[in-house]
Amino acid sequence: MNYTEKNGIPEAVPVMEPDRQYYYMKKARQYVNARSREMGRPLTFCVNTFGCQMNARDSEKLEGILEEAGYQKSEEDHADIVIYNTCTVRENANLKVYGRLGYLHSLKKKNPHMLIGLCGCMMQEPQVVEKIKKSYRFVDLIFGTHNIFKFAELLVNRLESDSMVIDIWKDTDQIVEDLPTDRKYSFKSGVNIMFGCNNFCSYCIVPYVRGRERSRNPKDILREIEKLTQDGVVEVMLLGQNVNSYGKNLDDPVTFAQLLKEIEKIPGLERIRFMTSHPKDLSDELIEVMAQSDKICHHLHLPLQSGSSRILKEMNRKYTKEDYLTLTEKIRRAVPDISLTTDIIVGFPGETQEDFEETLDVIRKVRFDSAFTFIYSRRTGTPAAAMENQVPQDVVKDRFDRLLKEVQTISAKMTSRFTGTVQEVLAEEINSHKEGLLTGRLGSNILVHFPGTEEEIGKLIKVSLDECRGFYYMGSRVEEERKNP
Ligand code: SAH
Ligand code: SF4
Ligand code: F3S
Repeated sequence: MNYTEKNGIPEAVPVMEPDRQYYYMKKARQYVNARSREMGRPLTFCVNTFGCQMNARDSEKLEGILEEAGYQKSEEDHADIVIYNTCTVRENANLKVYGRLGYLHSLKKKNPHMLIGLCGCMMQEPQVVEKIKKSYRFVDLIFGTHNIFKFAELLVNRLESDSMVIDIWKDTDQIVEDLPTDRKYSFKSGVNIMFGCNNFCSYCIVPYVRGRERSRNPKDILREIEKLTQDGVVEVMLLGQNVNSYGKNLDDPVTFAQLLKEIEKIPGLERIRFMTSHPKDLSDELIEVMAQSDKICHHLHLPLQSGSSRILKEMNRKYTKEDYLTLTEKIRRAVPDISLTTDIIVGFPGETQEDFEETLDVIRKVRFDSAFTFIYSRRTGTPAAAMENQVPQDVVKDRFDRLLKEVQTISAKMTSRFTGTVQEVLAEEINSHKEGLLTGRLGSNILVHFPGTEEEIGKLIKVSLDECRGFYYMGSRVEEERKNP
């Protein structure tokens, strides 16, 4: 480094990332420290997250940056900087944010130095930003999904000016590595393996707000997981909108299954999860790697969306009902104790009673361990939003209720199939209802409550699954078989 420094901060702004952002974190810290001295107390931050695991992971990065900038974490919106990391996959996710903004305005009137930042998927929609610029003038900072790595720089811009800072990128091919993160759990972590989505399912807004598919370099992923395990992490969740197409656009293409094999070798790592798998790209190679692995959890989240081949075509999902059934049978043959979970949309434009019956048929045939069920939400700019034959609300509601009932009945039966077996449970937290109990998860992601103490959190423990109560188990300890005491 040949630049001069002043108060430990280089005088010239570094051009390269992530150095540039570390420069801005230091700069932000000077402002934060000065304000904190003035106020005679530390400054606090609160990051609120909506949406999927991608957003949760992004929020950990925002929190890491805020801590580096000298703010202290708070769980409440009464903080000196409040960030809303938004989701827009369905309209209700979107409406919640507007609902909260009114409340934030009232807090800001009491604490005029308070900063309000909005980021995430909703901010990638131009009409949303227009609305905020017009009707929510008190917002300080708006940025999108592509430039989240620039948060420190944008924060300093806001601290040095007095007006709203807005920075939204349409797309990017940049992936910035090595920014600080503040992990929510000490023993498990999400790890992005790819960003964006190229599938353009006709109902879905994600490709428009998250941009084109970009895979991270395997080396960077492995290095991150190695560092995490050295830091006490035993379980990773590999994140991508369609993990099965991982690696296709790298200079040296790699398959998702090959990546898994490399991750599996990392010492100290006990469990590997991933999400989400698109049925059209799920390879035999992946099934084989799952069947042979000691670390990959026997759980597959495989969104079905609809059981009608006609609707699947309209949805641009690129598989049929039969393809889906064949695929799940193949998986069950290779990994008999696999837990299959799914996402289903009811009320897609043009869905008839017969189409809906096809969905119920798949549910009865596959017997999912659980299913997230959604009412179709019309998203501006997607092809499905322009389709004419939208299904009336009351018909959708009726189908939704029927679907939910069916899903719950099957799910309760499926969950109970492990009763009486001994399984490994990752102890995750103290049970909030009963003293002396811990709550953990099976590889299948099912919750188990069992006797244990706080020091055991983050450890894999053999538990006998004595009683199934709906969607969770009550278990007891199998002492001599503890894996990593
Ligand atoms: N990439 C993942 C899904 C991400 S969005 C995949 O392809 O499986 C999570 C879920 O939200 C989707 O699986 C879908 O079931 C649901 N979803 C997406 N857009 C929706 C819409 N417009 N209305 C209702 N549900 C939607
Ligand atoms: Fe949306 Fe389809 Fe991409 Fe999933 S695969 S994020 S549902 S477009
Ligand atoms: Fe929502 Fe964005 Fe995830 S729209 S579901 S937070 S990718």
